Amino acid sequence: MDFIKQEITSGIAWVTIDRQSKLNALNSQVLDELETTFLKLQKNAEAKVVIITGAGPKSFVAGADISQFPSMTPVEAQKLSERGQHVFSVVEDTHKPVIAAVNGFALGGGCELAMACHIRIASDNAQFGQPEVKLGVIAGYGGTQRLPRLVGTGRALDMLLTGRMVNAQEALDIGLVNAIYSQDSLLEEAGKKADELMQQGPQAQAYTLQAVYSGMGKTLKDGLQEEAAAFRDVFDTEDRIEGASAFLERRSADFKNR
Ligand code: COA
Repeated sequence: MDFIKQEITSGIAWVTIDRQSKLNALNSQVLDELETTFLKLQKNAEAKVVIITGAGPKSFVAGADISQFPSMTPVEAQKLSERGQHVFSVVEDTHKPVIAAVNGFALGGGCELAMACHIRIASDNAQFGQPEVKLGVIAGYGGTQRLPRLVGTGRALDMLLTGRMVNAQEALDIGLVNAIYSQDSLLEEAGKKADELMQQGPQAQAYTLQAVYSGMGKTLKDGLQEEAAAFRDVFDTEDRIEGASAFLERRSADFKNR
């Protein structure tokens, strides 16, 4: 891997996009490496929570690599959009919690990658945006769909139609991120959030993710059916016996992810 660094320590998989000379912009190789990394982490039992961040002090990801745009045909553009969407869906479909630790610019594909993660925290210098309209194009890696779902149509359209940057405080105010920390403490705080997540039932988290995301595009009635099915399936796990026993015996649960 040239552009993705990954290590697992104490259950946390740290994934760093490292293409600093281009502010970690996503070319096709970065997308390929990202997909491979997440597919492997999905199967790796040592990885209980994933934290993704960008290398360097300035940028999480500054977007899709613009240098590929000028020569691209409409057909190639559709393929690129579908490719980016697919890779980010792999991230979103991870059956364990994925935290985006947004450490600077999260523009275009960077904002879209953060939105495909399950939890977003940001450093105080973070800047979010979908600046594609400034280039005469549109968001293509999920931005037109995930942004309205996260912050509401009105706020999303303001960002998508003006391309303006939103600072960390505004991102917090509109629900685009869950919390802001100083640049120096961002990764430490991401680690603390991962520790909190690792104390909970992993099977329960996987079924929660499934119920939330599969219900999102459905009617309330159909979404509630998804929830009941996931509720049923989680009762078929050993972890749910352990969870209730631990509570009744006044001890911490020792979940086995089974
Ligand atoms: N694609 C390709 N290269 C990019 C890039 C992108 N999305 N974003 C930044 N880079 C490159 C720059 O071309 C520059 O490369 P160079 O040194 O070889 O010329 C390098 O990263 C540093 O960027 P620079 O623009 O000099 O940094 P800056 O601090 O002045 O500005 C940004 C930072 C993020 C505001 C600016 O780089 C920017 O607007 N980037 C594009 C953001 C965007 O439109 N993303 C959506 C793409 S669809």
